[in-house]
Amino acid sequence: MVSANPTHDAIVIGAGAAGLMAALTAGQRGRRVVVIDHAEKPGKKILISGGGRCNFTNLGTAPDRFLSANPHFARSALGRYPPAEFVAMVDRHGIAWHEKTLGQLFCDGSARQIVAMLVGECEVGGVEIRCGHAVAAIDRADHFRVVTAQGTVTAPSLVIATGGPSIPKMGATGFAYDVARRFGLKVVEPRPALVPLTLGEPDMAFRALSGVSLPAVARCGRAAFAEAALFTHRGLSGPAILQVSSYWRHGQPIALDLRPGEDAAAALLAAKRARPRAQARTLLAEMLPARLAEAIAPPGELANMADKALAALGARLNAWPFAPTGTEGFAKAEVTVGGIDTAGLDQRTMAAKAVPGLHFVGEAVDVTGWLGGYNFQWAWASGWSAGQVL
Ligand code: FDA
Repeated sequence: MVSANPTHDAIVIGAGAAGLMAALTAGQRGRRVVVIDHAEKPGKKILISGGGRCNFTNLGTAPDRFLSANPHFARSALGRYPPAEFVAMVDRHGIAWHEKTLGQLFCDGSARQIVAMLVGECEVGGVEIRCGHAVAAIDRADHFRVVTAQGTVTAPSLVIATGGPSIPKMGATGFAYDVARRFGLKVVEPRPALVPLTLGEPDMAFRALSGVSLPAVARCGRAAFAEAALFTHRGLSGPAILQVSSYWRHGQPIALDLRPGEDAAAALLAAKRARPRAQARTLLAEMLPARLAEAIAPPGELANMADKALAALGARLNAWPFAPTGTEGFAKAEVTVGGIDTAGLDQRTMAAKAVPGLHFVGEAVDVTGWLGGYNFQWAWASGWSAGQVL
């Protein structure tokens, strides 16, 4: 039986970034809000984010830094709750921060401060946070009803903020997709994103370079990112690779420019004329990390290499092709590309168009940011947008 008098105005499932933001926003608007999470404490992903310092937003936030089947969907929330709003909250709490690079804002101290801030703001709004409560059932008649082993709550609004399946050992699940499908919403195929890529034959030689890192431009289709690339024992990683991984599809090649900003062919030919007796290996070691140079240098002196061969080597340095065999999967993915199809959601309120009162926020939705604080900004903005109408 569904009670005629709901226990709450809104139930939020998921005490992560988006759920806490939705809850504190609605709570501070006077709504009676309960947050339910199966983890033993709130904000576990926030705590491990940004190497423990939480890259909580990015000053360069713009819709084109997000992937989605509908690239326009995120505009409304991102525009109404910009990074400055979150920074203002951080400042109100006296949390010191700095810009690391590329607009990325990090805590000077610890990600724990961000969780404490969100929990504190929830307290201000009278929000009840119930951790360690696994959801046994959800149904809906007059109101939504959420059943856990510890009891049942009912409300006219339900917010699903359970994130995506990346890092299952942190308690991540595909719960949101199951709820969405049950209520008739579509799910865009979820894929691991911001994830290292694996290499096989014929790129095997590069796997011996594990630990070598260098500035590069990684390209996949039309996506290109200039940041560090890292060779690992399984393949490729580093920020440039994580960024293109979100765009990569099985079977697609990627290319690494190992000499960004330089015409490497011209540089090699000029070096041959200036220092014909130099070993190719010596020259490449001046241009690349020594272990990488060693692995790819042709034997002999520059003078003994045909211009054509040197030009081809230079062209390769500017666009070294790799054929990834896969990714390291959800176990290592920072986020999920895909998720709840935005076609079924209202972009201002994150509400399911066909199910009054049901909202989806954060990573569960088919909106995925680049590396660098964009994903938290989406969590804050989408959570805030839902919180306005609960
Ligand atoms: P989030 O995953 O944060 O929260 C979901 C909550 O739902 C969790 O508390 C979980 O326990 C709960 N839950 C799941 N299933 C449930 C169920 N069945 N029942 C009840 N509760 C359930 N982003 C960024 O912008 N800057 C950064 O520095 C980083 N760093 C980073 C590092 C690492 C290692 C990872 C894995 C990820 C990042 N990210 C990041 C990405 C960022 O953490 C992510 O985008 C947000 O946490 C998403 O917020 P959500 O609230 O949507 O989900």
